Amino acid sequence: MKELIVFEHIYKIYQMGDTEVRAADDISFKIHKGEFVAIVGQSGSGKSTCMNIIGALDVPTEGSYYLDGADVGTMDDNQLAEIRNKMLGFIFQQYNLIPKLTVIENIELPLLYAGVPKSIRRKRAKEVLNKVGLSEKAKNLPSQLSGGQQQRVSIARALVGDPSVILADEPTGALDSRTGREVLEFLQKLHSDGNTIVLITHDNSIAVKAERIIRLQDGKVVYDGPSNVPEAVVNPDIPIELQKKNTEEGGGI
Ligand SMILES: Nc1ncnc2c1ncn2[C@@H]1O[C@H](COP(=O)(O)OP(=O)(O)OP(=O)(O)O)[C@@H](O)[C@H]1O
Ligand SMILES: [Mg+2]
Repeated sequence: MKELIVFEHIYKIYQMGDTEVRAADDISFKIHKGEFVAIVGQSGSGKSTCMNIIGALDVPTEGSYYLDGADVGTMDDNQLAEIRNKMLGFIFQQYNLIPKLTVIENIELPLLYAGVPKSIRRKRAKEVLNKVGLSEKAKNLPSQLSGGQQQRVSIARALVGDPSVILADEPTGALDSRTGREVLEFLQKLHSDGNTIVLITHDNSIAVKAERIIRLQDGKVVYDGPSNVPEAVVNPDIPIELQKKNTEEGGGI
């Protein structure tokens, strides 16, 4: 299988006066085309650090990151902007839609940045809007939509450029549990359509919806494997029986 994301001994170290914070402390993993991976861990474990490096929004202090075979560490700002635009689709907790643009214009935006002609932009945006089931909302403003609908628009925006990787950072964090479940089901559908998805979450009950879990603690990988085994949801600070119970009930830890 094709290796899309390769982390080789990635470190991100912040020097805070006399102390250093190791936000990423020798992280290595490979994510293959078509995988659905959750990066999970408690607050401060290094999830956003990894997300920002994968998303070419930040660079590691040490180590190598390859995206679809290309060494991201050697790229200049223009090349970074280009891979962000062409290879990565971002979904954020707070949707990050532009309030003054209509739904369809928001979805077209990544294609505008990529220099795609208007007629193709509109056609492609309509296709993905249809895919998320919101065709009738094309001319609405984001503020006229519910939270779940806004997140679906942001998913459409992430999909519009046909990215190699979809990066979702706490995509259900602002939604109620039912709407959050719908968004997760949609991500699972995108995965079954062949998309590669990296989901960042602090919530075990969400992480288990992916097929593979990479668990971080203090900037290190403490578990990397299938999501459907008890070890995948082990949190060393909470008794395992309680954790299993919480996960079965759909509650977060
Ligand atoms: N710019 C920075 N300067 C100093 N320390 C930082 C900086 N950014 C992150 N850190 C530290 O690095 C560690 C990892 O942070 P990170 O944001 O990756 O955690 P996280 O897992 O995303 O947490 P959360 O669930 O709260 O979002 C934390 O200890 C954090 O305080
Ligand atoms: Mg974070």
